[in-house]
Amino acid sequence: MQVRSPFPIPFGWFQVAWSADLAPGAVEPIEYFGRHLVLWRDESGAAHVNDAFCPHLGAHFGYGGHVNGNDIVCPFHGWRFDCDGRNTHIPYSQRTNKKACVEPLPVREVNGLIMAWYHPEGAEPTWEIPVVPEFNDPDNFTAVETREYLIGAPWQDLAENGVDAAHFRYVHHTEEVPELESYETDGPLAKMRSIQKFPTPRGVVDGRIDADSFGPGFSVIRFSGIVDTFLMGCNTPLTRNSCFMRFTFTVRNMGDEALNSTVGKAFVAEIDKQVQEDRPIWQNKAFLARPALADTDGPFTKFRRWASQFYAEGVDDSQLVYFPTETKAYDPIQTASRTFGSDPTAD
Ligand code: FES
Ligand SMILES: [Fe+2]
Repeated sequence: MQVRSPFPIPFGWFQVAWSADLAPGAVEPIEYFGRHLVLWRDESGAAHVNDAFCPHLGAHFGYGGHVNGNDIVCPFHGWRFDCDGRNTHIPYSQRTNKKACVEPLPVREVNGLIMAWYHPEGAEPTWEIPVVPEFNDPDNFTAVETREYLIGAPWQDLAENGVDAAHFRYVHHTEEVPELESYETDGPLAKMRSIQKFPTPRGVVDGRIDADSFGPGFSVIRFSGIVDTFLMGCNTPLTRNSCFMRFTFTVRNMGDEALNSTVGKAFVAEIDKQVQEDRPIWQNKAFLARPALADTDGPFTKFRRWASQFYAEGVDDSQLVYFPTETKAYDPIQTASRTFGSDPTAD
């Protein structure tokens, strides 16, 4: 079998929804980590993720199931289960089935995100998702803007973008590339500190891009300088070869509604454009086990060492090059380079 990358699906915390999109009593089918799952919110307000299929005769809870109190009810024969997946009621029997269990995934709801813990062997969480002050302070930060993207590439190829300073110039056509100050890892955490110069009508302003990753599925990126803008970037693997990426944005309140909105829109538009520019590269690239790096390239080796801790299953090391299993038609988007007519790769 030809594989697209050496890596299985990583374990960790992954966003499965925004809190605001799941009302009490809601039941939704979701598909992540190569699994069918059900996302639901009980009447006391807690969000849950369980295996999608009823242990009785296999109905999918996400299609017709409903919530009763703090239980989920199967659409097929009305059996009820609590959030731990235990059978609490069979409507046509005096007894419950003690063996029937709908496997739960650990869930945390923080920063307006519903995060589920995926581990291929069902191991318990080994770190937590922090409260991010900027996304919990509506007086000082604007209401969030969100974007979502389906990307046909493995998690690691998307995540590696963060340490790839040079591509900003060539793919995103920024005038300057971020200058790395430090890249430190500590268990599941990775912290990148960088300086970014912004050309403005009044001269070049020094800004910063600081990114903190908490495992493979959750990063906070802080852009400061002219204005302070913040992004939670969440990549959730659908399969080993595809990811759902969700971005949540906020801007530090500058005390002027119109200005906040202009800055916010420009920020979201720029990041959105960058994803569109990255997408054809990600979807069609090969994975090289031994890339030919320049001495001034970013900390790829350190990033790959950090990433490798999240693979509980075996990593394939039989090939040096992993090609895309299907190439995606090149989507002729209007990249910044083309729009501004100064493509640095043009000859
Ligand atoms: S399949 Fe769920 S109650 Fe029968
Ligand atoms: Fe990029």
